[in-house]
Amino acid sequence: MTIEEMKQEVCDYAKQSYNEKLFAGTSGNLSLFDGENMVITPTSVPYETITPDDMVVIKLDGTVLEGKYQPSSEWRMHAAVYEAKPEVSAIIHTHSPYATAFAVNNKKIPTILIEMVPFLGGDVPLAKFAVPGTKEVGLEAVKVMEERTGCLLANHGVLTVGNSLAQAHIRAIYVEDAAKICSLALSNGDIVEIPEEYVAVMRGK
Ligand code: 13P
Repeated sequence: MTIEEMKQEVCDYAKQSYNEKLFAGTSGNLSLFDGENMVITPTSVPYETITPDDMVVIKLDGTVLEGKYQPSSEWRMHAAVYEAKPEVSAIIHTHSPYATAFAVNNKKIPTILIEMVPFLGGDVPLAKFAVPGTKEVGLEAVKVMEERTGCLLANHGVLTVGNSLAQAHIRAIYVEDAAKICSLALSNGDIVEIPEEYVAVMRGK
């Protein structure tokens, strides 16, 4: 994929995610990494008007190669995940409301739906709070995502990863779906998690 194609894809998924209400205002950020360069959304630019040309191209150390805006204030979080997980080439950070509510409760989303196993690896763990904009946000996420493809960031939001934005995006959708259904189920009474023995079978272990 060329840098121009990466810019187009990051922009397309940013707009789509905004329209799906995975984030509000200018919150959230997305990136693609080709092993050398990261294409990331700019900080604080409204998604309604964003264009591929507004995307910022940086190195993992923050050196800006292209861009008329500053990169997302969370570029260090993205870089920390790419550094720690070489299999990852796409990241989405959302503030999707049901899942972020769990992050505010400082509670993980338990394994309540079968889709959570193939798409997310199981439950959605909670990464410890870290100051926004610091590398620690990414490092805390990496700690809980050893066998997961998404996590909650305490009092902050959601992070999902993939080998493409299509994959990171569908995972962000499933995190929000699980959180929403879990919230509804909790309002009905106690929830029942899928027993670990079945989760293991679904993981193929
Ligand atoms: P940026 O606009 O800088 O990407 O910040 C949004 C956000 O969600 C911070 O966590």
